[in-house]
Amino acid sequence: MADPSGEARVKEVEGRLVQNVNELYMLPADATEHDRLELQSFALNLALEGNYPAREAVRAALVPRRDRRGGVLDIGTGSGSWAESMAREFPHADVLGIDLVAVARAGSTPTNCRSVVATSCHESV
Ligand SMILES: C[S@@+](CC[C@H](N)C(=O)[O-])C[C@H]1O[C@@H](n2cnc3c(N)ncnc32)[C@H](O)[C@@H]1O
Repeated sequence: MADPSGEARVKEVEGRLVQNVNELYMLPADATEHDRLELQSFALNLALEGNYPAREAVRAALVPRRDRRGGVLDIGTGSGSWAESMAREFPHADVLGIDLVAVARAGSTPTNCRSVVATSCHESV
């Protein structure tokens, strides 16, 4: 995987793929890590009884409106599964996931969900 400058976005370290963009983030960026994150998401979802706490506030913010679409920004989207789940729950909102590395989608993605490779920090991606 390479960015427009031709530099690899991921590198192999001791048999695992690690992103090569931001030296502050050191966890792997491979399928094994995404499986771990899926399990973690599942546990959090059970604990929260849904995708997020403060249920009333989130639902009020994303209630369908005539004048504009709601938006959800998922910084560090990982596998993108939380973003997809939010897009399914809020079909009237646009969900954007950003991550240092591209999301590897397994199934169909809701049309109101997209992802881009980007960083939340100031350094160039
Ligand atoms: C612990 S994972 C969490 C993934 C997902 N949010 C979840 O809960 O399953 C953190 C993610 O943030 C991404 N990440 C780390 N630093 C970032 C930055 N500065 N900008 C964008 N994404 C970043 C990593 O590549 C990784 O996919």
